[in-house]
Amino acid sequence: MKVMQKRILGNNGLEVSALGLGCMGMSWSYGPPKDKQEMIQLIRAAVERGVTFFDTAEVYGPFLNEALLGESLAPFRGQVVIATKFGWAPASESEENARWSALNSRPEHIKRAVEGSLKRLQVEVIDLYYQHRVDPQVPIEEVAGAVKALIQEGKVKHFGLSEAGVQTICRAHAVQPVTALQSEYSLWYREPEKEIIPTLEELGIGLVPFSPLGKGFLTGKIDENTKLEATDFRSTVPRFNTENRKANQSLVALLHKFAEQKNATPGQVALAWLLAQKPWIVPIPGTTKLHRLEENIKAVDCQLTLGDLREIEEAASKITIQGARYPEDMEKKSGL
Ligand SMILES: NC(=O)c1ccc[n+]([C@@H]2O[C@H](COP(=O)([O-])OP(=O)(O)OC[C@H]3O[C@@H](n4cnc5c(N)ncnc54)[C@H](OP(=O)(O)O)[C@@H]3O)[C@@H](O)[C@H]2O)c1
Repeated sequence: MKVMQKRILGNNGLEVSALGLGCMGMSWSYGPPKDKQEMIQLIRAAVERGVTFFDTAEVYGPFLNEALLGESLAPFRGQVVIATKFGWAPASESEENARWSALNSRPEHIKRAVEGSLKRLQVEVIDLYYQHRVDPQVPIEEVAGAVKALIQEGKVKHFGLSEAGVQTICRAHAVQPVTALQSEYSLWYREPEKEIIPTLEELGIGLVPFSPLGKGFLTGKIDENTKLEATDFRSTVPRFNTENRKANQSLVALLHKFAEQKNATPGQVALAWLLAQKPWIVPIPGTTKLHRLEENIKAVDCQLTLGDLREIEEAASKITIQGARYPEDMEKKSGL
């Protein structure tokens, strides 16, 4: 088994590989679920290559993705860190095939959700348990209190938030120390730099950027000619409409330029850029393909100098990204 550089999330020393593996696309969001046996092999191949940090959520599938990780990682108990998330629920929890469009972070719901996640993940304790989205109906102190109780019961080790704003992070952290915030961050979505990252630095909270490859766009493998199926979530995202995909190629061109200089790929430069921002940042690129997993992992060896970072900054500041990162109704659920 290979060893990858490690990073620490939060003040309580959660040690994970410098790059994790986002597993969502294996079951959800980017088209129909992928072949289960192939995904089990892929997840195990990631462990063999030194990845010790795996990201899932109750809602991915729903449920399928947690079960996939539970089965894939069963031989590696205690050697890997699994992060999952709560906070969505079908509008009526008894409804079969219900649409998961409703937020629910009520303490009694969290208490129930954790039992299902523990079972599907086949673990006795969840390493990192994130609230998936801030629930405006439930004060964050109550959510943090519910997770604190689960930590005291030995069902959860670490508390995380996703897409929470500064006020929410501070209020939650005062009740139960937050180990990591998982939010979108990459060269094409830099909102967290304004207030979030300084707050995390001050409080000693790690940052786990999701969609670190810009949902695939920053790899240079998507352009205006790429066909996005209706089952692919990106077909609903303004930033991925044909016109914007064309306009946003200027950012890919910038990554290509640095990739050539570094003997790397655009995706590796995008990940290396994130790793270079702070030593407590751990991106979780997602893929369903072994050769891409291997490519992404090698980003850890792509060193960007201060001069490179300055050049990227200057060039990126001249590019205006076109199109919103989410459809409007989803953006409203972000706490940022
Ligand atoms: N907290 C949240 O609300 C939230 C939201 C979104 C995502 N997430 C988490 O973050 C993880 C990563 O985010 P993401 O999957 O949205 O976006 P991402 O990691 O930026 O990009 C994933 C996409 O890029 C493609 N890709 C990956 N490596 C590639 C490479 N080397 N060359 C070309 N294409 C490549 C993948 O396709 P292939 O599969 O075909 O390789 C997939 O379509 C998810 O798996 C999930 O665990 C969390």
